[in-house]
Amino acid sequence: MSEAATLQIQVEHTQQSRLSQVDFNNLKFGQILSDHMLVAEYANGQWEDVRIVPYGDISISPSMSALHYGQAIFEGIKAYKFVDGTVSIFRPDKNHERFNKSAARLEMPEVPQEIFIDGLRKLIGLDHSWVPATPGASLYIRPFMFATEAALGVHPSNSYKFIIITGPVGSYYNKPLRVKVETHFTRAADGGVGFSKNAGNYALSLHPTKLAQQEGFDQLIWTDAKEHTYVEEAGTANLLFRVGDTIITPSADTILHGVTRRSIIEIARHWGYQAEERKVSVKELVDGIKDGSVTEAFAAGTAATLTPISEIGYKGQLYTLPDPAKREFSNKVLQYLNDLRYGRIADEFGWNFIV
Ligand code: COI
Repeated sequence: MSEAATLQIQVEHTQQSRLSQVDFNNLKFGQILSDHMLVAEYANGQWEDVRIVPYGDISISPSMSALHYGQAIFEGIKAYKFVDGTVSIFRPDKNHERFNKSAARLEMPEVPQEIFIDGLRKLIGLDHSWVPATPGASLYIRPFMFATEAALGVHPSNSYKFIIITGPVGSYYNKPLRVKVETHFTRAADGGVGFSKNAGNYALSLHPTKLAQQEGFDQLIWTDAKEHTYVEEAGTANLLFRVGDTIITPSADTILHGVTRRSIIEIARHWGYQAEERKVSVKELVDGIKDGSVTEAFAAGTAATLTPISEIGYKGQLYTLPDPAKREFSNKVLQYLNDLRYGRIADEFGWNFIV
């Protein structure tokens, strides 16, 4: 994609910033969008017309193939504001890598670094005032790509749109989670698209999640498609737990390999904890909660950050975990991640991309 290196990113500034209308002390997730967005078009085998324009509606064809056949992928990234006003994006290179893996699986084109990373820096540079300085808040970044060919035949689209929108957010979950182990519905099977961040994976989660919510749970723990024996993910995030001084997280080709999950594993190892990425059976998890050896369980993701799991429901039984406030590793690693992302400590891993 070397042609992208020569691409200029045109900028059209908004005539009417909406920034003054934002209550930065009362941010919900994903409801407020910043002034500008980056848009790029893919056609005739190359990316073109990369531009930053005022955030706004786009026009699409009713026969646009993403609407019918689901070639649609996305990412979630966050930018943070340091006390001195510096703006930093957390590990966008990892999201870029995953985005292109998702693209390859869905037979979509890769988005080159010149658009994904350099374009992102330029966009955040322009909308830097939208990055919240309020405690616990950040700028959520949503890069996404979808097929735009107007045609009803089933084939890879010959044109695509890549867009990055952003918006200030508070926390996604505001309390510890009660999660139900799903033993009927399936999120992903071997050879499928579970590892890719595509829209369909979220669509299929809505009905089973709604049923679990009607039973009083917040989210699901997905299990393997074949036997529903092994745990995979926690709702829209990855699942991690602690046994002794070991941090354990399910690993499989079917799970989404999250950047927060990866960062927590790297920090844990750096601190001298063992970290295991392996198959974890539901039995191992619930037996460990019963005998007290599982002392912590949490969901980790860009939106979720690190959210403690307080209770797990499995086959009609409830398994209660220790008080989230007393969990040593989860609280320590969350504090460390926050200190790092808000620039309060040295960035010893080199994860902050300063804008
Ligand atoms: C994220 O953590 O960024 C996600 O994609 C989760 C969700 C809001 C879909």
